[in-house]
Amino acid sequence: MRILITGGAGYIGSVAVEMAAAAGHEPVVLDSLWRGHAGAVLPGVPVHRVDLRDAAAVTATMAAVRPDVVMHFAAVTLVGESVERPLDYFGTNVVGGHNLLAAMEAAGVGRLVFSSTAAVYGEPEVIPIREDAPTVPINPYGRSKLMVEQMLPWHAGAWGLSYCCFRYFNVAGATPTRGEDHSPETHLIPVALQTLLGQRDALRVFGTDYPTPDGTAVRDYVHVMDLVDAHLLALPHLDRPLGAFNLGTRDGFSVRNVVQAVEGVTDRTLPVVEVGRRAGDPPALVADSTRARIELGWDPSRSTLERMVGDAWEWHRRHPNGYRGT
Ligand SMILES: NC(=O)c1ccc[n+]([C@@H]2O[C@H](COP(=O)([O-])OP(=O)(O)OC[C@H]3O[C@@H](n4cnc5c(N)ncnc54)[C@H](O)[C@@H]3O)[C@@H](O)[C@H]2O)c1
Repeated sequence: MRILITGGAGYIGSVAVEMAAAAGHEPVVLDSLWRGHAGAVLPGVPVHRVDLRDAAAVTATMAAVRPDVVMHFAAVTLVGESVERPLDYFGTNVVGGHNLLAAMEAAGVGRLVFSSTAAVYGEPEVIPIREDAPTVPINPYGRSKLMVEQMLPWHAGAWGLSYCCFRYFNVAGATPTRGEDHSPETHLIPVALQTLLGQRDALRVFGTDYPTPDGTAVRDYVHVMDLVDAHLLALPHLDRPLGAFNLGTRDGFSVRNVVQAVEGVTDRTLPVVEVGRRAGDPPALVADSTRARIELGWDPSRSTLERMVGDAWEWHRRHPNGYRGT
């Protein structure tokens, strides 16, 4: 299949490009390169440098590429930044999502895989979280993703869009050639590894008084290759609207668990500073992903903490400056 991968120069999108090509598909990238890296894109894959907020450019690209399916990873993704700059989040994520849908309808492209997030649940009352849990986002990032999710059934009804929404929990790990290079980096595992590489003084642990077994916040980590597997597994099912699937493992790991895994894998001591809770950080976010396992046959077998940290460490050691210079 020809797959238009928006955000294909970003962390997850670039792995999707790599794995889609390896599976025999024909990936094409749409990315503004605002936060992505040209060097992350598999060589030979066409890159359309387009901003999703530019409706005319998105429409022209869709008409030129005419993909069989769109995987929509492109977004702005930082929770704190979304509170400070909601216009950017509703602009890129909601207006950009709307522009993409309009371009798809105009070009007769009827299949979409949408990257959503656990942030749509806000502060869930029941753990592990099922897809039918209340969606009550507590920041513009989560709200912007939920707004796009909520548009999709209307497009399905009006012009026959087939889609699925994947609600990712914490994505981690790397392939041998592609890894996580965000600027700013806010994710725990790469921040810990950057600390070991001397790029930061210490890892700050936000909150040690949560109602969790060791007092630190608990999150559900999924290997980026397992995550992309789900996208490829969904393709044969995209003949109808599929709704939302959680992508996590149900194994919650605390910040202290991650620190121990990083120290174990790297055989180094991680300097840690304990500080207060961050506003808006729920104590635990853990997914019930039964739906993806049963309906798509998804098996996140790479998503052990050791493997995710080990693969990320390999990539960071080999690319201490990320994609800079590539
Ligand atoms: N990384 C995670 O743990 C995680 C968790 C939940 C959901 N997600 C979702 O997964 C998707 C990918 O996340 P990621 O970590 O790879 O992010 P990323 O920042 O690495 O990649 C996003 C890409 O989108 C591009 N982009 C941003 N604004 C754009 C615009 N206006 N027009 C065109 N392209 C634009 C960036 O240049 C970048 O290449 C996002 O939709 C994110 O919300 C990620």
